[in-house]
Amino acid sequence: MTATDLTKGEAPQPERPMVLAEQVCKNFGSLKVLRGISLEVKRGEVMCLIGPSGSGKSTFLRCVNHLEVVNAGRLYVDGDLIGYRERGGKLHEMSSKDAAKQRRDIGMVFQHFNLFPHRTALENVIEAPIQVKRKSKADALERARYLLDRVGLAGKADTYPAQLSGGQQQRVAIARALAMDPKLMLFDEPTSALDPELVGEVLGVMRELAATGMTMLVVTHEMGFAREVADQLVFMDGGVVVESGNPREVLANPQHERTRGFLSKLL
Ligand SMILES: Nc1ncnc2c1ncn2[C@@H]1O[C@H](COP(=O)(O)OP(=O)(O)O)[C@@H](O)[C@H]1O
Ligand SMILES: [Mg+2]
Repeated sequence: MTATDLTKGEAPQPERPMVLAEQVCKNFGSLKVLRGISLEVKRGEVMCLIGPSGSGKSTFLRCVNHLEVVNAGRLYVDGDLIGYRERGGKLHEMSSKDAAKQRRDIGMVFQHFNLFPHRTALENVIEAPIQVKRKSKADALERARYLLDRVGLAGKADTYPAQLSGGQQQRVAIARALAMDPKLMLFDEPTSALDPELVGEVLGVMRELAATGMTMLVVTHEMGFAREVADQLVFMDGGVVVESGNPREVLANPQHERTRGFLSKLL
């Protein structure tokens, strides 16, 4: 599997980060969930985000994908300001149509797969390319079969989600996200709803995807994956980045008491 196979990507532009967050703030009413998140994910990098429940990890991913609008700060994906247009030095919120267009290039995989239950694995994978990208059915089918094969499910194309294990469903969900040829993949605790014996097969697919050069932002508490696959590890708590760096270094030698406390409960 190569990056071109999976993403049919544009010419690489290594100088422009894939994700750039500058002092991103997000409130829900009076609740300040993100309090100035700044980080950068370079093209082809994998960043793992860890942190206690409620620290704002999912909210941050949802902001990157423009499922939530940020209240302050700026978020760029591949150089494009997410959710806003800048005119005359002022930011104007984007129309929902333009927001949907931005979101098409960003794949997202959730904890609870969210497959269409009344569609087969193959039908799940071809849905968005046909409906959103206006691909021909023949092209969508060819690509979907290829992607199901890549995630190890060539034999399950005509199976409905209820007949698949959680690990298989999550691999279909990954194939479905890849079918849109995303330039960035977001994963929100993709293995935390799985039985332990099924975690490895999903992490294996993610590892292979990372090896093809896909840029990935992954919320996970699988520290083995973070250590071996991630270029950066970010520890969030209370809506701020407490600590970040090379995963091996952060895990072996956390600089902050809060990071130490969190990791000691995890490992
Ligand atoms: N749509 C929402 N409305 C109100 N509060 C929310 C909403 N989404 C998340 N929150 C709150 O924001 C905080 C951070 O949530 P979340 O981003 O899901 O954290 P994490 O993914 O790190 O567990 C939590 O206190 C949560 O209750
Ligand atoms: Mg979450």
